[in-house]
Amino acid sequence: MSQALYRKYRPKGWAEVIGQDHVVQTLRNAITGGRVGHAYLFAGPRGTGKTTVARLLAKAVNCLDPEPANRPCNACDYCQAVNENRFLDLIEIDAASQTGVEDVRDLRDKINFTPTQGKYKVYIIDEVHMFSTQAFNALLKTLEEPPPHAIFILATTEIHKIPATVLSRCQRHEFRRVPVSEIVAQLKHIAAGENFEAEEDALSLIARQAAGGLRDAISLLDQLASTGGRITLNLVQTVLGTATSQTVLDLMDSIRDARPAAGLEAIHKAIDSGTDPRTLARQVVDYLRALMFFQLGNDKQVEATKEIADRMADHARAFTSSDVLRMLKAFNAAAMDTRGGWQPSLGLELALAEVMERPASVPPASPVTESPSQLTSRARTAAAPPPTSRPAPVKSTESSPPSAPEAPDRGPLFQVRHVPSASAPKDQRPAAPPSGNADIALAQILQVWKQVGKIVKSANPSLIGLLNSCKPLEVRQGTLYLGFASDVLVNKMNQPEEIELTRQALREVLGVDLAIKCVVSGGKTPPADIVPGGMVAAALENGGEIVDVQ
Ligand SMILES: Nc1ncnc2c1ncn2[C@@H]1O[C@H](COP(=O)(O)OP(=O)(O)OP(=O)(O)O)[C@@H](O)[C@H]1O
Ligand SMILES: [Mg+2]
Ligand SMILES: [Zn+2]
Repeated sequence: MSQALYRKYRPKGWAEVIGQDHVVQTLRNAITGGRVGHAYLFAGPRGTGKTTVARLLAKAVNCLDPEPANRPCNACDYCQAVNENRFLDLIEIDAASQTGVEDVRDLRDKINFTPTQGKYKVYIIDEVHMFSTQAFNALLKTLEEPPPHAIFILATTEIHKIPATVLSRCQRHEFRRVPVSEIVAQLKHIAAGENFEAEEDALSLIARQAAGGLRDAISLLDQLASTGGRITLNLVQTVLGTATSQTVLDLMDSIRDARPAAGLEAIHKAIDSGTDPRTLARQVVDYLRALMFFQLGNDKQVEATKEIADRMADHARAFTSSDVLRMLKAFNAAAMDTRGGWQPSLGLELALAEVMERPASVPPASPVTESPSQLTSRARTAAAPPPTSRPAPVKSTESSPPSAPEAPDRGPLFQVRHVPSASAPKDQRPAAPPSGNADIALAQILQVWKQVGKIVKSANPSLIGLLNSCKPLEVRQGTLYLGFASDVLVNKMNQPEEIELTRQALREVLGVDLAIKCVVSGGKTPPADIVPGGMVAAALENGGEIVDVQ
Protein backbone atom coordinates (compact mmCIF):
# COMPACT_ATOMS: atom_id res chain seq x y z
CA MET A 1 0.00 0.00 0.00
CA SER A 2 1.24 3.45 -0.78
CA GLN A 3 2.22 5.80 2.00
CA ALA A 4 -0.39 8.23 3.28
CA LEU A 5 0.18 11.63 1.74
CA TYR A 6 0.43 13.46 5.04
CA ARG A 7 3.31 11.21 6.07
CA LYS A 8 5.03 11.56 2.75
CA TYR A 9 4.84 15.34 3.07
CA ARG A 10 5.96 15.58 6.69
CA PRO A 11 8.49 18.43 6.82
CA LYS A 12 12.10 17.24 7.12
CA GLY A 13 13.56 20.67 7.78
CA TRP A 14 12.57 23.88 9.58
CA ALA A 15 11.89 25.71 6.33
CA GLU A 16 9.15 23.32 5.35
CA VAL A 17 7.08 23.91 8.46
CA ILE A 18 4.07 26.00 7.55
CA GLY A 19 2.33 28.65 9.61
CA GLN A 20 4.25 28.16 12.87
CA ASP A 21 7.03 30.70 12.33
CA HIS A 22 6.92 31.96 15.92
CA VAL A 23 7.67 28.46 17.25
CA VAL A 24 10.24 27.56 14.61
CA GLN A 25 12.15 30.80 15.05
CA THR A 26 12.52 30.33 18.82
CA LEU A 27 13.65 26.73 18.49
CA ARG A 28 16.14 27.51 15.74
CA ASN A 29 17.63 30.25 17.86
CA ALA A 30 17.99 27.84 20.75
CA ILE A 31 19.79 25.33 18.52
CA THR A 32 22.12 27.93 17.05
CA GLY A 33 22.83 29.44 20.44
CA GLY A 34 23.27 26.08 22.14
CA ARG A 35 20.52 26.88 24.63
CA VAL A 36 18.18 23.95 24.33
CA GLY A 37 15.78 23.38 27.24
CA HIS A 38 15.00 20.11 28.94
CA ALA A 39 11.24 20.25 28.90
CA TYR A 40 8.96 21.59 26.21
CA LEU A 41 5.22 21.64 25.91
CA PHE A 42 3.72 21.93 22.45
CA ALA A 43 0.05 22.84 22.58
CA GLY A 44 -2.38 23.42 19.75
CA PRO A 45 -5.10 21.98 17.54
CA ARG A 46 -4.82 18.63 15.83
CA GLY A 47 -2.63 18.28 12.81
CA THR A 48 -0.87 21.62 13.05
CA GLY A 49 2.67 20.28 13.30
CA LYS A 50 3.36 19.49 16.96
CA THR A 51 4.76 16.01 16.44
CA THR A 52 6.51 17.15 13.29
CA VAL A 53 8.32 19.98 15.07
CA ALA A 54 9.12 17.74 18.04
CA ARG A 55 10.89 15.35 15.68
CA LEU A 56 12.73 18.20 14.00
CA LEU A 57 13.97 19.32 17.39
CA ALA A 58 15.05 15.77 18.29
CA LYS A 59 16.91 15.59 15.02
CA ALA A 60 18.50 19.01 15.41
CA VAL A 61 19.88 18.41 18.92
CA ASN A 62 21.55 15.20 17.78
CA CYS A 63 22.60 16.29 14.29
CA LEU A 64 26.30 15.90 13.54
CA ASP A 65 26.62 18.88 11.20
CA PRO A 66 29.42 21.09 12.56
CA GLU A 67 27.47 24.26 11.80
CA PRO A 68 24.58 24.57 14.34
CA ALA A 69 22.57 26.77 11.97
CA ASN A 70 22.39 23.86 9.52
CA ARG A 71 20.89 21.42 11.98
CA PRO A 72 19.08 19.24 11.17
CA CYS A 73 21.08 18.53 8.02
CA ASN A 74 19.16 15.42 6.94
CA ALA A 75 22.46 14.05 5.64
CA CYS A 76 24.32 12.79 8.70
CA ASP A 77 23.80 9.29 10.12
CA TYR A 78 21.63 10.47 12.97
CA CYS A 79 19.36 12.68 10.86
CA GLN A 80 18.86 9.79 8.48
CA ALA A 81 18.19 7.40 11.34
CA VAL A 82 15.47 9.70 12.67
CA ASN A 83 13.96 10.08 9.20
CA GLU A 84 13.85 6.31 8.88
CA ASN A 85 12.37 5.81 12.35
CA ARG A 86 15.36 3.83 13.63
CA PHE A 87 17.04 6.31 15.92
CA LEU A 88 17.30 4.63 19.32
CA ASP A 89 17.49 7.81 21.36
CA LEU A 90 14.19 9.16 20.12
CA ILE A 91 11.47 7.62 22.24
CA GLU A 92 7.88 8.35 21.38
CA ILE A 93 5.20 7.63 23.94
CA ASP A 94 1.56 7.91 23.03
CA ALA A 95 -0.19 8.74 26.27
CA ALA A 96 -3.53 8.04 24.63
CA SER A 97 -2.83 4.44 23.75
CA GLN A 98 -0.57 3.11 26.45
CA THR A 99 -0.94 2.68 30.13
CA GLY A 100 0.67 5.92 31.12
CA VAL A 101 1.90 5.13 34.63
CA GLU A 102 3.79 2.00 33.59
CA ASP A 103 5.41 3.87 30.74
CA VAL A 104 6.51 6.76 32.85
CA ARG A 105 7.84 4.46 35.57
CA ASP A 106 9.72 2.53 32.94
CA LEU A 107 11.01 5.82 31.60
CA ARG A 108 12.18 6.90 35.05
CA ASP A 109 14.09 3.65 35.47
CA LYS A 110 15.85 3.96 32.16
CA ILE A 111 16.33 7.67 31.88
CA ASN A 112 19.60 7.76 33.73
CA PHE A 113 21.32 5.56 31.19
CA THR A 114 23.23 7.71 28.75
CA PRO A 115 22.03 7.92 25.15
CA THR A 116 22.84 4.92 22.98
CA GLN A 117 23.65 6.76 19.80
CA GLY A 118 23.34 10.50 20.03
CA LYS A 119 24.06 13.29 22.42
CA TYR A 120 20.52 13.54 23.77
CA LYS A 121 17.77 11.10 24.59
CA VAL A 122 14.58 12.78 23.42
CA TYR A 123 11.22 11.72 24.79
CA ILE A 124 8.16 12.83 22.86
CA ILE A 125 4.99 12.27 24.85
CA ASP A 126 2.02 12.73 22.55
CA GLU A 127 -1.50 13.48 23.79
CA VAL A 128 -0.01 13.99 27.24
CA HIS A 129 -3.34 15.27 28.60
CA MET A 130 -4.53 11.66 28.57
CA PHE A 131 -2.21 10.79 31.44
CA SER A 132 -3.75 9.83 34.75
CA THR A 133 -2.93 11.77 37.89
CA GLN A 134 -0.44 9.09 38.91
CA ALA A 135 1.24 9.21 35.56
CA PHE A 136 1.53 12.99 35.80
CA ASN A 137 3.00 12.66 39.28
CA ALA A 138 5.54 10.17 38.06
CA LEU A 139 6.40 12.43 35.14
CA LEU A 140 6.72 15.41 37.44
CA LYS A 141 9.46 13.70 39.45
CA THR A 142 11.44 13.28 36.26
CA LEU A 143 10.78 16.81 35.07
CA GLU A 144 12.01 18.22 38.38
CA GLU A 145 15.50 16.91 37.88
CA PRO A 146 16.03 15.71 34.35
CA PRO A 147 19.48 14.29 33.65
CA PRO A 148 21.50 16.62 31.41
CA HIS A 149 21.22 14.24 28.46
CA ALA A 150 17.42 14.11 28.46
CA ILE A 151 14.92 16.31 26.64
CA PHE A 152 11.17 16.02 27.08
CA ILE A 153 8.70 17.24 24.53
CA LEU A 154 5.12 16.97 25.65
CA ALA A 155 2.43 17.50 23.03
CA THR A 156 -1.25 18.12 23.64
CA THR A 157 -4.42 19.35 22.01
CA GLU A 158 -5.95 20.08 25.38
CA ILE A 159 -3.67 22.23 27.41
CA HIS A 160 -6.32 22.98 30.03
CA LYS A 161 -6.07 19.38 31.17
CA ILE A 162 -2.37 19.66 32.02
CA PRO A 163 -1.67 20.20 35.72
CA ALA A 164 -0.13 23.55 36.60
CA THR A 165 2.79 21.78 38.25
CA VAL A 166 3.73 20.24 34.92
CA LEU A 167 3.08 23.45 32.95
CA SER A 168 5.37 25.43 35.19
CA ARG A 169 8.30 23.15 34.42
CA CYS A 170 8.00 23.32 30.66
CA GLN A 171 8.86 25.84 28.02
CA ARG A 172 5.54 26.34 26.34
CA HIS A 173 4.89 26.78 22.62
CA GLU A 174 1.44 27.37 21.19
CA PHE A 175 0.77 26.00 17.73
CA ARG A 176 -1.74 27.91 15.65
CA ARG A 177 -4.32 26.88 13.15
CA VAL A 178 -2.72 27.18 9.74
CA PRO A 179 -4.27 30.00 7.65
CA VAL A 180 -6.43 28.92 4.70
CA SER A 181 -4.16 30.54 2.13
CA GLU A 182 -1.15 28.60 3.39
CA ILE A 183 -3.09 25.37 3.41
CA VAL A 184 -4.17 26.00 -0.17
CA ALA A 185 -0.57 26.65 -1.18
CA GLN A 186 0.56 23.38 0.40
CA LEU A 187 -2.29 21.45 -1.21
CA LYS A 188 -1.29 22.87 -4.58
CA HIS A 189 2.30 21.87 -3.96
CA ILE A 190 1.23 18.33 -3.11
CA ALA A 191 -1.22 18.11 -6.03
CA ALA A 192 1.58 19.15 -8.39
CA GLY A 193 3.97 16.64 -6.88
CA GLU A 194 1.46 13.83 -7.19
CA ASN A 195 0.11 14.80 -10.61
CA PHE A 196 -3.41 15.37 -9.33
CA GLU A 197 -5.74 17.46 -11.38
CA ALA A 198 -7.48 19.76 -8.96
CA GLU A 199 -9.66 22.83 -9.28
CA GLU A 200 -8.55 25.84 -7.27
CA ASP A 201 -12.04 26.20 -5.76
CA ALA A 202 -11.94 22.60 -4.68
CA LEU A 203 -8.63 23.06 -2.84
CA SER A 204 -9.96 26.19 -1.26
CA LEU A 205 -13.01 24.40 0.07
CA ILE A 206 -10.84 21.57 1.40
CA ALA A 207 -8.68 24.12 3.18
CA ARG A 208 -11.62 25.94 4.71
CA GLN A 209 -13.14 22.68 5.79
CA ALA A 210 -9.95 21.60 7.54
CA ALA A 211 -10.28 24.57 9.87
CA GLY A 212 -6.57 25.15 10.25
CA GLY A 213 -5.48 21.54 10.54
CA LEU A 214 -3.03 20.77 7.80
CA ARG A 215 -3.14 17.04 8.29
CA ASP A 216 -6.92 16.99 7.91
CA ALA A 217 -6.61 18.99 4.71
CA ILE A 218 -3.96 16.66 3.29
CA SER A 219 -5.93 13.58 4.31
CA LEU A 220 -9.02 14.94 2.63
CA LEU A 221 -7.07 15.62 -0.54
CA ASP A 222 -5.72 12.08 -0.34
CA GLN A 223 -9.21 10.67 0.03
CA LEU A 224 -10.59 12.72 -2.86
CA ALA A 225 -7.67 11.82 -5.11
CA SER A 226 -8.24 8.15 -4.50
CA THR A 227 -11.34 8.39 -6.68
CA GLY A 228 -8.84 8.71 -9.51
CA GLY A 229 -10.51 11.55 -11.35
CA ARG A 230 -10.20 15.28 -11.38
CA ILE A 231 -10.78 16.90 -8.00
CA THR A 232 -13.66 19.26 -8.66
CA LEU A 233 -15.57 21.60 -6.40
CA ASN A 234 -18.62 19.47 -6.95
CA LEU A 235 -16.81 16.35 -5.81
CA VAL A 236 -15.59 18.05 -2.65
CA GLN A 237 -19.04 19.40 -1.89
CA THR A 238 -20.56 15.98 -2.33
CA VAL A 239 -18.03 14.36 -0.08
CA LEU A 240 -18.22 17.08 2.54
CA GLY A 241 -21.95 17.67 2.44
CA THR A 242 -22.76 14.67 4.52
CA ALA A 243 -19.70 14.95 6.70
CA THR A 244 -20.38 18.47 7.88
CA SER A 245 -24.11 18.29 8.32
CA GLN A 246 -24.25 15.22 10.50
CA THR A 247 -23.04 17.15 13.54
CA VAL A 248 -25.62 19.84 12.93
CA LEU A 249 -28.36 17.26 12.49
CA ASP A 250 -27.32 15.47 15.68
CA LEU A 251 -27.29 18.75 17.52
CA MET A 252 -30.77 19.68 16.27
CA ASP A 253 -32.10 16.26 17.24
CA SER A 254 -30.69 16.63 20.72
CA ILE A 255 -32.27 20.04 21.18
CA ARG A 256 -35.60 18.80 19.88
CA ASP A 257 -35.49 15.82 22.22
CA ALA A 258 -34.28 17.90 25.18
CA ARG A 259 -31.13 15.83 25.52
CA PRO A 260 -28.36 18.30 26.34
CA ALA A 261 -25.80 15.56 26.94
CA ALA A 262 -26.18 14.27 23.40
CA GLY A 263 -25.88 17.82 22.11
CA LEU A 264 -22.64 18.40 23.97
CA GLU A 265 -21.33 15.10 22.70
CA ALA A 266 -22.05 16.08 19.11
CA ILE A 267 -20.24 19.39 19.59
CA HIS A 268 -17.20 17.85 21.26
CA LYS A 269 -16.93 15.04 18.75
CA ALA A 270 -16.81 17.53 15.91
CA ILE A 271 -14.28 19.79 17.61
CA ASP A 272 -12.10 16.87 18.65
CA SER A 273 -11.97 15.74 15.06
CA GLY A 274 -10.65 19.12 14.01
CA THR A 275 -13.76 21.16 13.20
CA ASP A 276 -13.33 24.78 14.06
CA PRO A 277 -15.95 25.74 16.69
CA ARG A 278 -16.88 28.92 14.92
CA THR A 279 -17.23 27.12 11.62
CA LEU A 280 -19.52 24.66 13.31
CA ALA A 281 -21.52 27.50 14.86
CA ARG A 282 -21.89 29.04 11.39
CA GLN A 283 -23.09 25.74 10.01
CA VAL A 284 -25.70 25.61 12.75
CA VAL A 285 -26.76 29.17 11.94
CA ASP A 286 -27.01 28.31 8.23
CA TYR A 287 -29.13 25.33 9.09
CA LEU A 288 -31.43 27.33 11.37
CA ARG A 289 -31.79 29.93 8.65
CA ALA A 290 -32.89 27.18 6.34
CA LEU A 291 -35.43 26.04 8.94
CA MET A 292 -36.76 29.56 9.07
CA PHE A 293 -37.18 29.54 5.28
CA PHE A 294 -38.98 26.24 5.52
CA GLN A 295 -41.32 27.62 8.14
CA LEU A 296 -42.01 30.67 6.02
CA GLY A 297 -42.74 28.48 3.03
CA ASN A 298 -39.60 29.61 1.18
CA ASP A 299 -37.96 26.23 1.10
CA LYS A 300 -37.16 26.67 -2.61
CA GLN A 301 -34.53 29.12 -1.47
CA VAL A 302 -32.72 26.42 0.48
CA GLU A 303 -29.86 24.66 -1.26
CA ALA A 304 -29.63 21.17 0.10
CA THR A 305 -29.62 17.59 -1.02
CA LYS A 306 -32.93 15.79 -0.92
CA GLU A 307 -31.87 13.88 2.19
CA ILE A 308 -30.92 16.99 4.13
CA ALA A 309 -33.98 18.88 2.90
CA ASP A 310 -36.17 16.12 4.32
CA ARG A 311 -34.49 16.42 7.69
CA MET A 312 -34.92 20.19 7.53
CA ALA A 313 -38.62 19.77 6.87
CA ASP A 314 -38.88 17.50 9.91
CA HIS A 315 -37.03 19.92 12.13
CA ALA A 316 -39.05 22.85 10.78
CA ARG A 317 -42.17 21.04 11.94
CA ALA A 318 -40.74 20.07 15.32
CA PHE A 319 -39.79 23.61 16.34
CA THR A 320 -41.97 26.69 16.46
CA SER A 321 -40.69 29.76 14.65
CA SER A 322 -39.96 31.51 17.91
CA ASP A 323 -37.86 28.51 18.95
CA VAL A 324 -35.92 28.80 15.71
CA LEU A 325 -35.41 32.52 16.17
CA ARG A 326 -34.13 32.04 19.67
CA MET A 327 -31.74 29.31 18.59
CA LEU A 328 -30.56 31.51 15.74
CA LYS A 329 -29.73 34.26 18.18
CA ALA A 330 -27.86 31.97 20.55
CA PHE A 331 -25.80 30.18 17.90
CA ASN A 332 -25.15 33.36 15.99
CA ALA A 333 -23.52 34.72 19.12
CA ALA A 334 -21.30 31.63 19.16
CA ALA A 335 -20.43 32.14 15.50
CA MET A 336 -19.48 35.76 16.12
CA ASP A 337 -17.46 34.97 19.20
CA THR A 338 -13.92 35.99 18.46
CA ARG A 339 -12.45 35.05 21.81
CA GLY A 340 -12.73 31.47 23.02
CA GLY A 341 -9.02 30.88 22.54
CA TRP A 342 -8.33 28.78 25.58
CA GLN A 343 -11.73 27.10 25.57
CA PRO A 344 -12.82 27.04 21.95
CA SER A 345 -16.00 25.06 22.44
CA LEU A 346 -17.39 27.39 25.10
CA GLY A 347 -19.41 29.56 22.74
CA LEU A 348 -21.26 26.55 21.37
CA GLU A 349 -21.75 25.08 24.82
CA LEU A 350 -23.23 28.34 26.06
CA ALA A 351 -25.56 28.54 23.09
CA LEU A 352 -26.72 25.01 23.71
CA ALA A 353 -27.20 25.62 27.42
CA GLU A 354 -29.12 28.76 26.66
CA VAL A 355 -31.59 27.15 24.30
CA MET A 356 -31.98 24.14 26.57
CA GLU A 357 -32.45 25.99 29.83
CA ARG A 358 -34.85 28.75 28.99
CA PRO A 359 -38.53 28.01 28.68
CA ALA A 360 -39.85 28.05 25.15
CA SER A 361 -42.56 30.64 25.52
CA VAL A 362 -41.76 34.28 25.86
CA PRO A 363 -43.62 36.30 28.51
CA PRO A 364 -46.46 38.22 26.84
CA ALA A 365 -45.22 41.64 27.87
CA SER A 366 -41.76 41.19 26.42
CA PRO A 367 -40.95 43.26 23.34
CA VAL A 368 -39.46 40.20 21.61
CA THR A 369 -42.86 38.59 21.56
CA GLU A 370 -43.97 40.63 18.61
CA SER A 371 -41.76 39.24 15.94
CA PRO A 372 -41.81 35.56 16.88
CA SER A 373 -45.56 35.47 17.13
CA GLN A 374 -45.97 37.33 13.87
CA LEU A 375 -43.58 34.93 12.33
CA THR A 376 -45.44 32.01 13.73
CA SER A 377 -48.73 33.16 12.34
CA ARG A 378 -47.24 34.08 9.00
CA ALA A 379 -45.47 30.79 8.90
CA ARG A 380 -48.67 28.97 9.66
CA THR A 381 -50.44 30.46 6.70
CA ALA A 382 -47.56 30.49 4.28
CA ALA A 383 -45.53 27.48 5.09
CA ALA A 384 -46.07 24.15 3.49
CA PRO A 385 -46.03 22.10 5.63
CA PRO A 386 -47.02 24.39 8.50
CA PRO A 387 -44.99 24.31 11.70
CA THR A 388 -46.45 22.30 14.49
CA SER A 389 -48.58 24.35 16.74
CA ARG A 390 -49.14 23.05 20.20
CA PRO A 391 -52.72 21.96 20.62
CA ALA A 392 -54.12 21.52 24.06
CA PRO A 393 -53.42 18.00 25.22
CA VAL A 394 -57.08 17.12 25.60
CA LYS A 395 -57.99 18.04 22.09
CA SER A 396 -55.38 15.91 20.46
CA THR A 397 -56.38 12.79 22.29
CA GLU A 398 -60.08 13.19 21.84
CA SER A 399 -59.88 13.77 18.14
CA SER A 400 -57.36 11.12 17.27
CA PRO A 401 -56.12 7.72 18.31
CA PRO A 402 -52.61 7.56 19.79
CA SER A 403 -50.62 9.78 17.51
CA ALA A 404 -48.54 8.26 14.79
CA PRO A 405 -44.92 7.91 15.83
CA GLU A 406 -43.67 9.97 12.91
CA ALA A 407 -45.70 13.01 13.92
CA PRO A 408 -45.60 13.14 17.67
CA ASP A 409 -47.32 16.00 19.31
CA ARG A 410 -44.46 17.59 21.11
CA GLY A 411 -44.74 19.40 24.38
CA PRO A 412 -42.80 22.53 25.16
CA LEU A 413 -39.55 22.33 23.30
CA PHE A 414 -36.93 23.14 25.82
CA GLN A 415 -38.18 21.22 28.74
CA VAL A 416 -35.89 21.27 31.67
CA ARG A 417 -35.20 17.71 32.62
CA HIS A 418 -35.12 18.16 36.35
CA VAL A 419 -38.40 18.25 38.20
CA PRO A 420 -40.13 21.60 38.28
CA SER A 421 -39.82 23.27 41.64
CA ALA A 422 -42.11 25.89 43.10
CA SER A 423 -40.26 28.48 41.06
CA ALA A 424 -40.44 26.50 37.85
CA PRO A 425 -40.66 28.42 34.59
CA LYS A 426 -44.12 29.63 33.72
CA ASP A 427 -44.67 27.30 30.83
CA GLN A 428 -44.11 24.13 32.78
CA ARG A 429 -47.36 22.31 32.71
CA PRO A 430 -49.18 22.10 36.01
CA ALA A 431 -48.62 19.01 38.08
CA ALA A 432 -52.34 18.30 38.25
CA PRO A 433 -53.49 17.05 34.87
CA PRO A 434 -56.39 18.71 33.09
CA SER A 435 -59.55 16.79 33.82
CA GLY A 436 -60.18 16.00 30.14
CA ASN A 437 -57.24 13.63 30.19
CA ALA A 438 -59.34 11.12 32.02
CA ASP A 439 -60.67 10.07 28.64
CA ILE A 440 -57.46 8.37 27.62
CA ALA A 441 -57.94 4.61 27.56
CA LEU A 442 -55.60 2.10 29.11
CA ALA A 443 -55.45 0.39 25.72
CA GLN A 444 -53.91 3.52 24.23
CA ILE A 445 -51.26 3.57 26.92
CA LEU A 446 -50.44 -0.09 26.42
CA GLN A 447 -50.16 0.46 22.70
CA VAL A 448 -47.48 3.13 23.07
CA TRP A 449 -45.75 1.78 26.17
CA LYS A 450 -42.74 0.48 24.23
CA GLN A 451 -42.37 3.82 22.52
CA VAL A 452 -42.45 5.59 25.88
CA GLY A 453 -39.63 3.30 26.96
CA LYS A 454 -37.58 4.25 23.91
CA ILE A 455 -37.98 7.95 24.60
CA VAL A 456 -36.95 7.77 28.24
CA LYS A 457 -34.05 5.48 27.44
CA SER A 458 -31.82 8.18 26.04
CA ALA A 459 -32.31 10.45 29.02
CA ASN A 460 -32.12 7.80 31.68
CA PRO A 461 -31.13 4.28 30.55
CA SER A 462 -32.05 2.61 33.82
CA LEU A 463 -35.61 3.89 33.62
CA ILE A 464 -36.43 1.68 30.67
CA GLY A 465 -35.81 -1.36 32.87
CA LEU A 466 -38.30 -0.04 35.40
CA LEU A 467 -40.91 0.68 32.76
CA ASN A 468 -40.48 -2.79 31.31
CA SER A 469 -40.89 -4.37 34.69
CA CYS A 470 -44.17 -2.70 35.49
CA LYS A 471 -47.63 -2.92 34.05
CA PRO A 472 -49.91 0.00 33.35
CA LEU A 473 -52.99 -1.02 35.34
CA GLU A 474 -55.54 1.67 34.99
CA VAL A 475 -56.13 5.24 33.94
CA ARG A 476 -58.54 7.11 36.09
CA GLN A 477 -59.20 10.81 36.55
CA GLY A 478 -56.00 11.81 34.86
CA THR A 479 -53.88 9.35 36.79
CA LEU A 480 -52.07 6.38 35.40
CA TYR A 481 -51.57 3.52 37.86
CA LEU A 482 -48.46 1.45 37.35
CA GLY A 483 -48.17 -1.96 39.01
CA PHE A 484 -44.76 -3.21 40.19
CA ALA A 485 -43.66 -6.55 41.57
CA SER A 486 -42.00 -5.19 44.69
CA ASP A 487 -41.74 -2.07 46.74
CA VAL A 488 -38.06 -1.84 45.93
CA LEU A 489 -39.08 -1.22 42.34
CA VAL A 490 -41.82 1.16 43.37
CA ASN A 491 -39.32 3.17 45.38
CA LYS A 492 -36.94 3.27 42.47
CA MET A 493 -39.67 4.46 40.16
CA ASN A 494 -40.99 6.95 42.66
CA GLN A 495 -38.12 9.37 42.15
CA PRO A 496 -38.90 12.85 40.86
CA GLU A 497 -36.78 12.42 37.72
CA GLU A 498 -38.21 9.00 36.86
CA ILE A 499 -41.78 10.17 37.24
CA GLU A 500 -41.20 13.39 35.37
CA LEU A 501 -39.39 11.71 32.45
CA THR A 502 -42.16 9.19 32.10
CA ARG A 503 -44.79 11.90 32.16
CA GLN A 504 -42.87 13.86 29.56
CA ALA A 505 -42.60 10.82 27.33
CA LEU A 506 -46.32 10.16 27.63
CA ARG A 507 -46.95 13.76 26.78
CA GLU A 508 -44.73 13.38 23.78
CA VAL A 509 -46.40 10.31 22.28
CA LEU A 510 -50.00 10.81 23.38
CA GLY A 511 -50.19 14.52 24.01
CA VAL A 512 -51.72 13.97 27.43
CA ASP A 513 -50.49 14.98 30.81
CA LEU A 514 -51.09 12.23 33.33
CA ALA A 515 -50.22 11.96 36.98
CA ILE A 516 -48.51 8.69 37.83
CA LYS A 517 -49.15 6.48 40.84
CA CYS A 518 -47.08 3.43 41.57
CA VAL A 519 -48.55 0.42 43.31
CA VAL A 520 -47.18 -2.94 44.37
CA SER A 521 -48.49 -6.40 45.25
CA GLY A 522 -48.18 -7.70 48.81
CA GLY A 523 -50.12 -5.48 51.25
CA LYS A 524 -53.67 -5.06 52.47
CA THR A 525 -54.99 -1.56 53.21
CA PRO A 526 -57.12 -0.05 50.44
CA PRO A 527 -56.84 3.71 50.35
CA ALA A 528 -59.97 5.80 50.25
CA ASP A 529 -59.89 7.01 46.65
CA ILE A 530 -59.92 3.64 44.91
CA VAL A 531 -62.92 3.02 42.73
CA PRO A 532 -64.62 -0.25 43.54
CA GLY A 533 -64.35 -2.71 40.66
CA GLY A 534 -61.40 -0.93 39.03
CA MET A 535 -58.05 -2.54 38.24
CA VAL A 536 -56.44 -1.10 41.32
CA ALA A 537 -59.22 -2.35 43.50
CA ALA A 538 -58.90 -5.77 41.90
CA ALA A 539 -55.16 -5.76 42.54
CA LEU A 540 -55.77 -4.80 46.12
CA GLU A 541 -58.35 -7.49 46.56
CA ASN A 542 -55.79 -9.99 45.37
CA GLY A 543 -53.29 -8.98 47.99
CA GLY A 544 -51.89 -5.88 46.27
CA GLU A 545 -50.79 -2.86 48.21
CA ILE A 546 -50.50 0.78 47.30
CA VAL A 547 -47.12 1.70 48.58
CA ASP A 548 -47.03 5.26 47.44
CA VAL A 549 -49.26 7.72 45.77
CA GLN A 550 -47.62 10.39 43.70
N1 LIG B 1 2.76 23.25 10.33
C1 LIG B 1 2.85 22.27 9.39
N2 LIG B 1 3.64 22.41 8.32
C2 LIG B 1 3.73 21.45 7.39
N3 LIG B 1 3.05 20.30 7.44
C3 LIG B 1 2.23 20.11 8.48
C4 LIG B 1 2.10 21.07 9.51
N4 LIG B 1 1.23 20.62 10.40
C5 LIG B 1 0.83 19.42 9.98
N5 LIG B 1 1.42 19.11 8.81
C6 LIG B 1 1.16 17.88 8.03
O1 LIG B 1 0.30 17.07 8.82
C7 LIG B 1 0.95 15.91 9.24
C8 LIG B 1 0.68 15.67 10.68
O2 LIG B 1 1.23 16.68 11.47
P1 LIG B 1 1.65 16.43 12.97
O3 LIG B 1 1.62 14.98 13.28
O4 LIG B 1 2.88 17.16 13.23
O5 LIG B 1 0.45 17.13 13.70
P2 LIG B 1 0.18 17.21 15.26
O6 LIG B 1 0.03 18.65 15.57
O7 LIG B 1 1.17 16.43 16.00
O8 LIG B 1 -1.24 16.54 15.33
P3 LIG B 1 -1.89 15.73 16.56
O9 LIG B 1 -2.36 16.75 17.53
O10 LIG B 1 -3.05 15.04 15.93
O11 LIG B 1 -0.85 14.82 17.10
C9 LIG B 1 2.40 16.09 8.93
O12 LIG B 1 2.98 14.89 8.55
C10 LIG B 1 2.38 17.07 7.77
O13 LIG B 1 2.17 16.39 6.56
MG1 LIG C 1 1.02 14.64 17.05
ZN1 LIG D 1 22.23 15.87 10.61
